[in-house]
This record gives sequence, C-alpha cells and structure tokens, in this order.
Amino acid sequence: MAKDRSNSQWGGRFSGGPAVIMMEINASIDVDKRLATQDIAGSKAHATMLETVGILSADEAAVIASGLDQVLAEINTDTMIWSPALEDIHMHVEARLFELIGEPAKRLHTARSRNDQVATDFKLWVRAACDELDVSLRAFQRALLARAEDHAETIMPGFTHLQIAQPVTLGHHLLAYIEMIERDRGRFADARARLNQCPLGAAALAGTGFPIDRHMTAKALGFNGPTHNSIDSVSDRDFALEFLGAAAITAVHLSRLSEEIIIWASQPYGFITLPDAFSTGSSIMPQKRNPDAAELVRAKSGKMLGLFQSLAVVMKGLPLAYSKDMQEDKSPVFEAFDTLSLCLAAMTGMVDTLVFNADAMRRVAAMGYSTATDLADWLVRVAGVPFREAHHITGQAVKIAEHKNCDLAALDLADLQGCDARITKAIFDVLSIDASVASRLSYGCTAPDQVRARIATLRGALGSTSNA
Ligand code: ARG
Repeated sequence: MAKDRSNSQWGGRFSGGPAVIMMEINASIDVDKRLATQDIAGSKAHATMLETVGILSADEAAVIASGLDQVLAEINTDTMIWSPALEDIHMHVEARLFELIGEPAKRLHTARSRNDQVATDFKLWVRAACDELDVSLRAFQRALLARAEDHAETIMPGFTHLQIAQPVTLGHHLLAYIEMIERDRGRFADARARLNQCPLGAAALAGTGFPIDRHMTAKALGFNGPTHNSIDSVSDRDFALEFLGAAAITAVHLSRLSEEIIIWASQPYGFITLPDAFSTGSSIMPQKRNPDAAELVRAKSGKMLGLFQSLAVVMKGLPLAYSKDMQEDKSPVFEAFDTLSLCLAAMTGMVDTLVFNADAMRRVAAMGYSTATDLADWLVRVAGVPFREAHHITGQAVKIAEHKNCDLAALDLADLQGCDARITKAIFDVLSIDASVASRLSYGCTAPDQVRARIATLRGALGSTSNA
C-alpha cells in the first residue's frame, strides 16, 4: 500500500492512500478532461439552482460561478495542472475551484454526486457531437449533390452481384448515397432527441433530500426536462450506445462508397481518376497512384463497429445503478467521433475532387447485354407477352448475341424474330442504353428527369450545393 495521503474528496474513511497502480487504473482524467466545458456548465447551472432554492447564498453562488469561469479559462489555455490522484474531470474542477475560492467550493457538491454529474456532462457532450456531425454529414451530402447535378445524364453501368445489370445514371447512383446519409442524419437526430433529458439531481442513484429544482437545471442546460427516474438517470448509457450505433452505420456507408471509389479507380474499370490530393504513390512502383484515403476509410469502419461493441459489452452485465465499469464509456465515444469526423472530411474532399471518366462508364454500361430487361419489357408492353415468357425469349436473343459477339442492339431483326415472331423493328428503340435510362421515369427511378427532380428537392433541403 502506498503511503500517500488518503483522497481529499472521498477519503474520510480511509487511513491510507491508494496503491500507485490503483491510482493508475482508477484515473480517467486523460480521457474525460474532454468533458471540461460540459462539467463546468453543469456545475454553474447546479450552483445557480442551489442559490435559487436557498442552499447557497448569493455571494457563495457568485464566487463559485466566477471561480468556475477561471478554472475553465485555465483549462482552455492549458495552464491547468492535471494529476492522476484527482482521478477525473469532476474532482479536478472542484479541487482547483477550492484552491481559487476556498470554502464556498466545498458547498458545490451539495445535492449531487459524480454519478449524475458524469451522466449530465456526457449527455451534453454527445448532444454537441450529434450537432457537429450533422454539419459534417450535410457538407458531405452537398458534395455528393453537386456531383450528382453534374452527372444527372451521365450513363454508367448499374451492378447487382458486381455483374453489369442495367444502365443507370451516375447522378442517380450518387443520390443513393445522399439518401443513406440522410438516414444517418436521422439516426443522430433521433439519438439527440431521446437523450435530451437531464440526469442532474439524481445524485448517487436515489435522488436527494435537499429541495432542489431539477427542472431549473435541466432548462439551464438546454435539456427538455429532467429524467424521470433517478436510478435510470445514473445507469443509462443508451445515449452513448445510440451514438455509437449511428456512427457505426454511417461508417459502414462511407466504407461502401470507399469500396466503389477503390474499384472505380482501378485500371480495369477506369471510371474515375482520383486527384493527387487524395492519392499516394508507391515507394517502389513509380507509376502507382493509390486510393489510400478510401482504403483507410474502408478500414476504419471496422474500428467503428468495434467501438459500438466495446461499450455494449461493458453495459450488458451491469446491475443497476452505476458501476465503475461505466467509466470506460467515454473513450469509444470520443474515438468514434474523431474517427468519423476525419472520415467524413476525407470523403467530402474525395467526392469534391475526383474526376469521372464518363466515356469509360458509358462504354461499360453498354456491355453485358445491359438492356436485356428492356427487350423483355417491350415484349410485355407492346406484344402482350407474359413477363416470364418474355424473359425466356430475351434469354434466347442474348444467347445469339453472345454467339455473334455483339450487343443486343446490333442483332439483325431476323435474328430477333427467330426468337419470337411478334418482335418488330420498333424493338430497336428500346435497346440503346440512353433509351433504357430515359424510360425509367417513375418516382425514384434512374431517368435523368427523375434525378433532376430529386436534386431540386434535395437542393431545397440541403441549401446550396457548394460547401464554400
Ligand atoms: N470518472 C467517473 C466516470 O467517468 C465519474 C463517476 C464516478 N462515480 C463513482 N461513484 N466513483 O464514470
């Protein structure tokens, strides 16, 4: 056992201090110092409320508030001295406040506990993180929207199973990502709305006997109101899990786009050229231009999924209410926020600057008998053939084209009529890739007119397409 003094904030019943290793495992200050702004905001709201209900005098509350401002200034200017003996941000702030203002600092912890304090701080932090990510996500959507607008008519191959399926417009493909990101934003917004109840005043777990006004502190901190159950207040980390879940799903979406960027930039595809700013070279192969940023975003999505899991596993076996295990809640959330912010910035930069090679996309879009469905649909629409039968007839036409090594549009009418006598030369109107995309006009489909309509709506919702 170390011979240090017992802890000044909770060591009344202890005669010795903690072992050095105990101090090391117990301290969270390296991580939770990031909650400083929130911790001080929470303390100021608490002190004001304590004054209003008559627990602190006006003088005490005033000196506490200005002392807390000074502590925050010291933290913001990097002059605060951090010490593992003071464990966490809450104890650091209080200890420094005592050094600055003396006795009134000792009254600040009336009617609260670090358990409700940390839950409040953390919720405030996650709430701000949701707001910041929404800004980054929207910037990413705008970058996608600008490129979709440039390419509302550009034809590319649409894939299923990574096999050429049907021609689509590049604008439509890019808009698909905007929809995914829109749902991601919705998940963060939902998480934010659900977390916005204030735990302060739940104290350790049972609440407090002091006549506090929880509605007042909740309001001062921008919450919709106080949480409804003191035990739940200090044991709930759903908000952190929801944040991590939303972040992980977003990261999965970014990873899918990364994967496409990597494939598209590869020479056999040649659909895009990544700008120098988002490519790296090889130390041995002078010709190389590698899509490292996209690869790293793809890889980091794995970590993002792990971060959700790490906290879910911490929480899953915990009895109510608070357990120290929960101190491990912050690092995954902070790391997820940092990682996702970085990935979003990189993806936005890539989308802003990558060059689409429309000719290559168009060439590939015409391969693989990509308008076969249009042929079958024509048989249904014009000749009244049941779709299953039309599918079979079209399969025969594909077989002939394969044999002749040509596109469906290059077959002779006689070849096609050999498959089914009801075919007329009007069939050729639907076999081009341009006709194929132009025909897909129902809501949400790939026709340029539909793409432009969706772009107009999104432009209204997202503001200007430029991030400048
Ligand atoms: N540093 C702690 C955490 O992050 C604060 C709460 C400590 N509560 C306690 N009962 N020891 O969870």
